[in-house]
Amino acid sequence: PAGTARFRPAVHFTARDTWLNDPNGLVFHDGLYHLFFQNNPYGNVWGNMSWGHATSRDLLHWTEHPVAIACDETEDIFSGSVVVDHGNTSGFGTADAPALVAIYTSAYKAASEHHGTQAQSLAYSTDAGMTWHKYRNNPVLARNSAHFRDPKVFRYEGGRGTCWIMVAVEAQHQKVVFYRSDDLKTWDFLSEFGPVNADQGEWECPDLFPLAVDGDPDNVKWVLIVNVNPGAVAGGSGGQYFVGQFDGARFVPDASSVAAPAGVSTLGDPVAAAAALQQCLWLDWGRDCYASVSFSNVPGGRRIIIGWMNNWDYANQLPTAPWRSSMTLAREVRLTAANGSARLVQQPVLPGHPSGQEPPALAPVEQIITEPSDLQDSVLLLPAAAPGSAQVIEAEILPGSAEHVAFHLFASEDGSTGTVLGYNAATGRLVLDRSRSGDTGFHEKFSSAESAPLVLEDGVLKLQIVVDHCSVEVFAQGGAVVLTDLVFPGAESQANWLAAAGGPATIQKLTVSTLT
Ligand code: FRU
Repeated sequence: PAGTARFRPAVHFTARDTWLNDPNGLVFHDGLYHLFFQNNPYGNVWGNMSWGHATSRDLLHWTEHPVAIACDETEDIFSGSVVVDHGNTSGFGTADAPALVAIYTSAYKAASEHHGTQAQSLAYSTDAGMTWHKYRNNPVLARNSAHFRDPKVFRYEGGRGTCWIMVAVEAQHQKVVFYRSDDLKTWDFLSEFGPVNADQGEWECPDLFPLAVDGDPDNVKWVLIVNVNPGAVAGGSGGQYFVGQFDGARFVPDASSVAAPAGVSTLGDPVAAAAALQQCLWLDWGRDCYASVSFSNVPGGRRIIIGWMNNWDYANQLPTAPWRSSMTLAREVRLTAANGSARLVQQPVLPGHPSGQEPPALAPVEQIITEPSDLQDSVLLLPAAAPGSAQVIEAEILPGSAEHVAFHLFASEDGSTGTVLGYNAATGRLVLDRSRSGDTGFHEKFSSAESAPLVLEDGVLKLQIVVDHCSVEVFAQGGAVVLTDLVFPGAESQANWLAAAGGPATIQKLTVSTLT
């Protein structure tokens, strides 16, 4: 394809010919996953913020629909969530035909009667999410703040009874604020959380949900997602999370979720600040996973998140047209016990995943290695992606005495350019290096190498890598470590290989499958 069309992803959602940022209003209803998103209906840079809309049955293939909630002369429509009002608490639907209710941020224009403040508003749909009506008494919750936004609402059933809970942010004060409601229209303040851990940027797009640790119903913990921009571990925007307890009013993090002891400030000490960021819990250690939030109303208690695959550092400059920006793959998250603490693990939702509502799509799998075989100072060539398709590479590797084991993706024949995903034995880190990945010159902050600490399991490095036309998503050690980066390779750089240096590594398993 000519121009930048070759960067259009095969399986990641993009808007047809406009700009997008945060996923909004993620909800499953009547067999469909709805993805609303921050959208500029009139251009491919940020502006005119409205909710775009797409739906999917399998979380991989999306159909874009007309704009769902549009900006007007008084307000931009900022991020928020959608609930299915099963009990018709709002009165927008009926008991038999519950309304979908969107809770979004009205970012009021300076000239409006709300003078540039941000407040929370409602819109509802009585046709299963296809058309939306703004509530006539908007906003429903204001605090005379210009930075109060990104409401995520869920149904809470617990000791204090059943009600709606909202988590939102006071972005510039690094606070998550908690409210409760019976009808989605009247809200009472409960508590606030923060600043703590990564607190050097604005806090945005929070989420709060329970998960049973390793599936044990007697050990349920709550996960609080707090996106931060800038000041994330890889630079710019990123998502951190906390594990703890929520009693219907207040979130209390486990001690093991808190990186810096209270009262110890790293302000003014960049080395200490960088070290403290390493101790925070990150949804993703790469540059391009922001504003991750979860679907509501998913059957079977599954928790599935989607992030915006971009970074505010350079988002408006990505070298694509007429569309700009995409979402990450949908990822199922679970909590698992690790060294006495509970930690998130993530799995991309791929064909055959039980969350998909369609029969598993056949993904041809090429078995590259089935018997353990050694690799040293040589390369193993992998099949190139078929035109128009993405690939999933799965590998189990014993680094052994190798100093460096690395996948080279989107590499040129002579190896002078490519994206390198390598395990470095000396540092014990997994490194995703895009500094020679192709077009890196469109913004000074784009060229980068990201890394995450990685613990081998019985000496084994386990990787699942989803490679689409302009992205690399890495799920290591069963999804305990995740790294996502955008890349814009040259048209001729399409070779993939695996190499080991400094000693023999043993490849136990290597498969490549095609995603279309
Ligand atoms: C996060 C964010 C949100 C806001 C939206 C505006 O990327 O800044 O806080 O609601 O984008 O588009």
